[in-house]
Amino acid sequence: MIFYFTATGNCLDIAKRLDKEIYSIAQIKERGKYKADKIGIVAPTYAFDIPQNVKEFLKNNEFETDYFYFVLTYGNKTGGVEERVHRFMNEIGKKVSYINSLLMVDNFLPGYDLAEQLKMNKKIDENFAKIKKDIENRVDFVKAETETDRKDYEIMLSYNFDFKYMNKYIVTDDCIGCGICAKVCPKSCIEIVDKRAKQDNTNCLTCLACVNACPKKALKFPIPNERFPYPEPNPNVRFKNPNVTLQEIIKSNCQE
Ligand SMILES: Cc1cc2nc3c(=O)[nH]c(=O)nc-3n(C[C@H](O)[C@H](O)[C@H](O)COP(=O)(O)O)c2cc1C
Repeated sequence: MIFYFTATGNCLDIAKRLDKEIYSIAQIKERGKYKADKIGIVAPTYAFDIPQNVKEFLKNNEFETDYFYFVLTYGNKTGGVEERVHRFMNEIGKKVSYINSLLMVDNFLPGYDLAEQLKMNKKIDENFAKIKKDIENRVDFVKAETETDRKDYEIMLSYNFDFKYMNKYIVTDDCIGCGICAKVCPKSCIEIVDKRAKQDNTNCLTCLACVNACPKKALKFPIPNERFPYPEPNPNVRFKNPNVTLQEIIKSNCQE
């Protein structure tokens, strides 16, 4: 049994490769008690941590298993996310057996030129095979935080930027009002008004599912400013993991 959260398909791809019984965290509305021989969480790394909705899910539900494992996908640096999640699980009184991270394509559009990302060989299959074997063998392991991880985390905190500002992307005139952005949003932040996407970012997770899924690349980031000093390196390339379909992302996240 796996619970996953995905914006652009990496985590869904990995969840599907690990188990047949998978559930999207974005679709779980009721509190529950889950029991299985193994329970896995597949989630993306956001700012060297895991997304808020994943944390809430972990806090608000009960899990009964002998092997609770995490596979955290990331695109560049983990910044010690594995131990951070371990500490979080300790704080909420939940025992974990395994936490590892898997390098994949980085969907953080303001940080990277996706065209460059797509050219990189991140050895996903090779690294995934090791993780899969660990999980099959019920290995006990939490990837240790390194000195570099600690420094990366400190540097990130020192930037003093406001992630929330990132979600104020611009809907350009290229928008045709198709509504795909609204359907891939896990938090119902978008509605189509007068054939144009309109965002209320109060609950936005900054997952970028909307920006990445827009078939017209009509959602763009604003000019960098002091609250969010990231230019968008390449507004012409967007990402969806090739092993998942747009329909699967919609099914994972759509709140309608
Ligand atoms: C808001 C945001 C923050 C991110 N922060 C990190 C990070 O701290 N380190 C990293 O290596 N990747 C980071 N990423 C990249 C994602 O973790 C990575 O691309 C992940 O595989 C996406 O999974 P998905 O396709 O299932 O949504 C971030 C992405 C977003 C959207």
